[in-house]
Amino acid sequence: MKIILISSFFVVVFFFSIAQKPHKYTESEAFSLIKTLEGTPFKRNNHPNAQWFPEAGLGLFIHWGIHSVAALDPSWTMIKNCPWAGPGYFVGREKYYQLVNEFNPSAYDPDKWILAAKQAGFQYVVLTTKHHDGYCLWPSKYGNMNTSKYMNNRDLLKPYIEACRKYGLKVGLYFSPRDWSNPIYPIPYPDYDYKNKGTSDKYPDNINQQKFDEFFDFTIRQLSELLTNYGKIDLLWFDSIDWSKINTYSERMHAWLRIIQPEMVVNPRWDTNDPFKHFGDFKSEEVSWGAHPEKKPESISDDDWWEFCNSWSGNWGYSPMNKFKDIYEVIKILVYARSFGGNYLLNIGPAPDGTMRSGFYDECIKLAAWMENNKESVVGNQAVPNWQEISNVPLTKNGNCYYAHVFTEFKGSVNVRLKYPPSEVLLLSNGKNIDFKYDKKAGITFDLNYTDRTILDDVVKIVLQ
Ligand code: GLC
Repeated sequence: MKIILISSFFVVVFFFSIAQKPHKYTESEAFSLIKTLEGTPFKRNNHPNAQWFPEAGLGLFIHWGIHSVAALDPSWTMIKNCPWAGPGYFVGREKYYQLVNEFNPSAYDPDKWILAAKQAGFQYVVLTTKHHDGYCLWPSKYGNMNTSKYMNNRDLLKPYIEACRKYGLKVGLYFSPRDWSNPIYPIPYPDYDYKNKGTSDKYPDNINQQKFDEFFDFTIRQLSELLTNYGKIDLLWFDSIDWSKINTYSERMHAWLRIIQPEMVVNPRWDTNDPFKHFGDFKSEEVSWGAHPEKKPESISDDDWWEFCNSWSGNWGYSPMNKFKDIYEVIKILVYARSFGGNYLLNIGPAPDGTMRSGFYDECIKLAAWMENNKESVVGNQAVPNWQEISNVPLTKNGNCYYAHVFTEFKGSVNVRLKYPPSEVLLLSNGKNIDFKYDKKAGITFDLNYTDRTILDDVVKIVLQ
């Protein structure tokens, strides 16, 4: 008994000590480790260095890869009859993969991207290291679609990660588990035609899991490269497996990620075929919530961490011909997301030569100008998820300060019913104090002068006594 106790003590100490040193693993140690692990039931990451996520506010999503060469929607443009396809969308698999020979980012300058993002108030960045087409932006030793095969071992991730660290932005890696370049992967659209979705399974049941196991090894090898060769990674963004009737080893995956990158937050798209084994430190809303951002997303509870992602312009990839979303719309969505506790992950597609698409820097400057005075109301702050019950404008907060967001279309008096009287009410854009009325029952009421209004969100800070 004594021996068991002592040895289990050392096992715990050993695991604790390696958990504190995530980068001490080599790639092959990380790969071997997952085989030995028992799964652990899901628990949101409670490491102190993972707690930045719910207060981050704004993230920059970057879709970049071989698709950028022809300004295609990443990966999906090789699928016939894709439901969201517009005119000229489909290019087919052969043409799509030919782009790999033309992808040559001769002017790649992530330092410039990330500096502009930092100045615009972005707190984290998520770059597509591998989209569903399987192309890896790093010189992976596994698979046939990567910079070791096509770009003379050039590593496009390293300078990106270094730039994020240099400017203090959190490093996020998007990684698509589904990989349409890997012959083992059973694409669920036979003949690459969306119409055939689910019509037949590639593998009979008796070898389905075995095939997945082979694919799982390949995936873990690639993930081991990503998660041990670049130091600390702050966020991992999976994008579905989409393979039916298999065990995707989600509990084991969860345990493994916590050991090799204990401070990392993980999104909820490492699929399982068992809803009880699903994991993710935060929930994910995509595109459609943006049509009614004044409504709290149905799937979100008050203490959930969550994120909304959509595109700033055009499709997820390089979209040089598309207009950017109006800056005011971007700010409104950010405010609504923050009021309900979510982050806004706004997507941009750089050009194939590695420069940002035209307009990006101008939009960042517009955002930076608004952020200059108003950042504290959307970054590093908290939600007021029930704001609709106590206010006629959206609210965010930070400790005992509340922020009332007065959109340009709002007319009339602002009314906010908080538990305590304010000591100060001021307009963030110019720092002016605002005259207000306070009544225990009716709360705080004020008007904004016409001359103080801007064409964006005017934020009023209410400091409680
Ligand atoms: C969807 C799309 C994918 C895109 C992602 C971004 O999963 O399939 O193309 O990268 O959304 O959230």
